[in-house]
Amino acid sequence: MSAIKNIEDFLSEQEQARVLGKLGLARRLPRKVYSDHDFLELEYTKWLDRTWLMVGRVHEIPNPGDAMPIPGHPIFLIRDSQQTIRAFYNSCRHRGHELISGKCNAGAAIVCPYHHWAYELNGRLKAATHFAGYRQHSHPDLDPETFGLKAIRTAVWNNWILININGEAPTLEEFVSPLAKFYQDVDFSQVKHFATVRRHPLAVNWKTAMENNIEPYHVPMVHPCTAGGHPFDNHRIIDDGPLVGCAVDIEDSSFTNRAVAKSNQQLDSSGRFVLRVPNLYIAAHAPDKLVDSLILPDRSDPGKCWISHACYNTSEADVSQQEARLWQDTQQQVLEEDVAVLEGVARGFRAPVMDDGGVISPAWEACVSGFYRSMLTALKF
Ligand code: FES
Ligand SMILES: [Fe+2]
Repeated sequence: MSAIKNIEDFLSEQEQARVLGKLGLARRLPRKVYSDHDFLELEYTKWLDRTWLMVGRVHEIPNPGDAMPIPGHPIFLIRDSQQTIRAFYNSCRHRGHELISGKCNAGAAIVCPYHHWAYELNGRLKAATHFAGYRQHSHPDLDPETFGLKAIRTAVWNNWILININGEAPTLEEFVSPLAKFYQDVDFSQVKHFATVRRHPLAVNWKTAMENNIEPYHVPMVHPCTAGGHPFDNHRIIDDGPLVGCAVDIEDSSFTNRAVAKSNQQLDSSGRFVLRVPNLYIAAHAPDKLVDSLILPDRSDPGKCWISHACYNTSEADVSQQEARLWQDTQQQVLEEDVAVLEGVARGFRAPVMDDGGVISPAWEACVSGFYRSMLTALKF
């Protein structure tokens, strides 16, 4: 439970107004929003628990019994014998031992490592091993329905697995509809995964990472080679309610960033980089690639988050091994370049001069303001 009941207990009206102010004057969130444990809990209870959180990818658990913990959360994902993807609290109903500690195949049952209680893949208690005495795996007073695993509402959109922790959010279809509409030209049915890069965990608040992912301001400076073909003069900012991010149009550009040597072909294309708040982020690179970013907060530590990027092909053409490796290497380099500046922000943000946050560029960071607006609006209820 958060010791903070309302956003007003933590951020004054004046502080909120500064963040939501006119572009040019608008501020970044004050530093306490990135480091306070009680605020993190408020973020969950008022916002992240009540909406859909992206937590994994369908291709990561392809077979019945495949399971993996959700980083930073006491929850795991599993594919059951009927191919349904489920999420459960990662806690045995006997004395609470963690059930899934790493990516694995659970086989026919999820067995607790402690006293070997066994659960069916749909969460039902199968055997309370030796609970009532030697070889007596059940007891009349132990209702298997009551002591099954505690499920969390789960839904799948294309290749992405989302959970709604409090179970009361509008449907996933409603949640994703702005993003689905934005990407209506993309054939998601063709999506084929071919590479993943990750940083697990990273000593940075998740919002710092998300802000960086949606704004194009840093790209020419931080990614001069990896995104060397991205022009500085032809970016569009997307700030449209729950959708925030940016887009770059190569075709009509004067390529003002071209003075920098180009080192790869992968990212030198028109692209859209879009977040459906809070964390469903998908970038589309012309003509036929998608890169998702899974940025997860850590529920127990505001100074920690978990990042991975996965690459997909959206056309029928196969991706050669060589092309897959090029994308993998480029994405890894992009990630390392971003990590370096994110860690730099985390260090710099310790200084009290950042108590009232930084400032937001009116040309490049309206999307960051839009992200704050969504968050503060959710926290008010
Ligand atoms: S804690 Fe799981 S069987 Fe005892
Ligand atoms: Fe970046």
